[in-house]
Amino acid sequence: MKHLLGIDELSKDDIEHYLDRAAYYHRALMEGKWDHGKLGAKLIMHLFFEHSTRTLTSFEIAAKRLGADVVNWNPESSSLAKGENFTDTIDTLSSMKPDAIVLRHADYGAPKFVAARSGCSVINGGDSWREHPTQALLDALTMKQHFGKLEGLNVTIVGDIAHSRVASSNMQLLHKVGAKVRVVAPKVLMPESLPFKEIEAFEDLAEGINGADVVMTLRLQKERMDTALISTDAEYFNRYGLTLNMLNHHAPNAVVMDPGPLVRGVQMEDALTEDPERSLIHKQVANGIPTRMAVLDMLVGD
Ligand code: CP
Repeated sequence: MKHLLGIDELSKDDIEHYLDRAAYYHRALMEGKWDHGKLGAKLIMHLFFEHSTRTLTSFEIAAKRLGADVVNWNPESSSLAKGENFTDTIDTLSSMKPDAIVLRHADYGAPKFVAARSGCSVINGGDSWREHPTQALLDALTMKQHFGKLEGLNVTIVGDIAHSRVASSNMQLLHKVGAKVRVVAPKVLMPESLPFKEIEAFEDLAEGINGADVVMTLRLQKERMDTALISTDAEYFNRYGLTLNMLNHHAPNAVVMDPGPLVRGVQMEDALTEDPERSLIHKQVANGIPTRMAVLDMLVGD
């Protein structure tokens, strides 16, 4: 049984295989030529215990583009409300014999738990602050399309590094493919340790983005903070909000990325979000579809 639980489990070769297949599906979608029946008769269940716009929707589109049947299970209208527990819910849904489960859950390691008992492929659609592997793959596809390579790229990730599964998966992936990674955050949003000694940490935004090729911003993950670590969004924006002026000064050739959801007035100024030359945000969203087609094909396809 093949799963995608985290980038931490993948080798550089595995990552490159996923990215090559995602690039293939990107081209195929542009040309309108792909095997629409690739996943015919396969059943994909989406179990999203946390809210999502991009991940859930693009997984559904990806599965449908490949001919799979899709069930979007909704926790709010499920028998969880009648007292059924998580394990029994997973066992119940697994009895219906899906070929794959895409799971988003607030608990660290929930996808691993489901993989061990569901009897089908499990794809992690984001668990706690641990991993969001398909987001890191689509981010890497977007960078590779823009720069033609990943190795040697200078990528700075700015924001709530401590609570972000996107930061975690991106640090894993970018380091494995040979990019140079820096992270920028106030002390309260920086983890106690980083996964690789080569990743440099900065508290000062200007220093951290200096000479970057890519600056990726992250939202404040308030739902994963036990207490309010930042007093106001405005205070955060004053120190860490990215502006066109700052980028022109310190990283004049950099593009900006953000996995979303983008909270206006917090991560970056609107002029940058909307700048078609500097912002790859809409390309990231669009790349969710070929990337997730690649993942479904490689894990569930015959
Ligand atoms: N980037 C991301 O995971 O967005 P959603 O929460 O909208 O899926």
